[in-house]
Amino acid sequence: MQLRDQVVVVTGAGRGIGAALARRFAREGARGVYVVDRDEGPARQIAAECGGTPIVLDVACESDVKAFVDSAFATFGRIDLYCSNAGVMQDGGIEASNADWQRAWEINFLAHLYAARALVPHMIEQGGGYLLQTASAAGLLTQIGAAPYSVTKHAAVAFAEWLSITYHRQGLRVSCLCPQGVHTRMLDDCESAPADLLRDAALTPEQVADAVVQGLADESFLILPHAEVATYVEHRACENERWLRGMRRLWDRVSPDDGRQGSVDPK
Ligand SMILES: NC(=O)c1ccc[n+]([C@@H]2O[C@H](COP(=O)([O-])OP(=O)(O)OC[C@H]3O[C@@H](n4cnc5c(N)ncnc54)[C@H](O)[C@@H]3O)[C@@H](O)[C@H]2O)c1
Repeated sequence: MQLRDQVVVVTGAGRGIGAALARRFAREGARGVYVVDRDEGPARQIAAECGGTPIVLDVACESDVKAFVDSAFATFGRIDLYCSNAGVMQDGGIEASNADWQRAWEINFLAHLYAARALVPHMIEQGGGYLLQTASAAGLLTQIGAAPYSVTKHAAVAFAEWLSITYHRQGLRVSCLCPQGVHTRMLDDCESAPADLLRDAALTPEQVADAVVQGLADESFLILPHAEVATYVEHRACENERWLRGMRRLWDRVSPDDGRQGSVDPK
């Protein structure tokens, strides 16, 4: 896909990777850029920068997502590319509260489902369309110290694969963006030792946007801004026991005490 003259939507575009995508798509000549975020100020600011339209909504609210998608099709007549990018870090393990697991599930997975449910019928009717889902390298491998993040990002990858297989012949194209560390507020706010491991090789959001523009041009399913992730995925698949041993060693090295990750309330 080439971006020129396309109508695009980017969620979580008030800052970080989403803001870099919105700016870059505008520079590539997109005809309309919807800058979606739950925070109004940042959505307005980024939309002003890229001549786009700010939309304030919570991607985890299905009725709001559907209302927005329907109104965008009514206004512009089409959406060519929808980047379901908003996501949240949630670290912890089995001790993380149900509310934290639920929040990660709603934003990191259900938001992709709600978007696809609203978009796919319109896109099939318009003769095709493109869905870009931001997951993470954690959705292909794992994020040590962050079970809710890893699990929900795996679900995002699985769903993107399913969409790609199921709707290809109706003209839908799907890409799944899986970076490792990226210098954004999400990474900056993480104070855990596992997050520190990601900082050295972290990319800028603009480098991720470069990889996305290339991946869309190639219509690649997996977009891997960190090329080494492809090698890790291969190790995990082909030498799973060895990969697990290596990951356990890494966890032993960075985990706070005996690796139990906090206490579980028996209630
Ligand atoms: N930063 C990284 O190291 C990294 C690595 C791999 C994948 N990712 C993924 O990239 C995506 C973007 O991350 P980022 O680093 O730019 O994060 P960020 O925290 O810097 O920005 C996320 C944006 O999404 C918005 N947002 C969050 N929840 C929302 C909701 N429910 N509805 C609408 N908007 C919402 C926030 O307001 C914010 O503007 C996420 O899906 C994240 O999991 C990030």
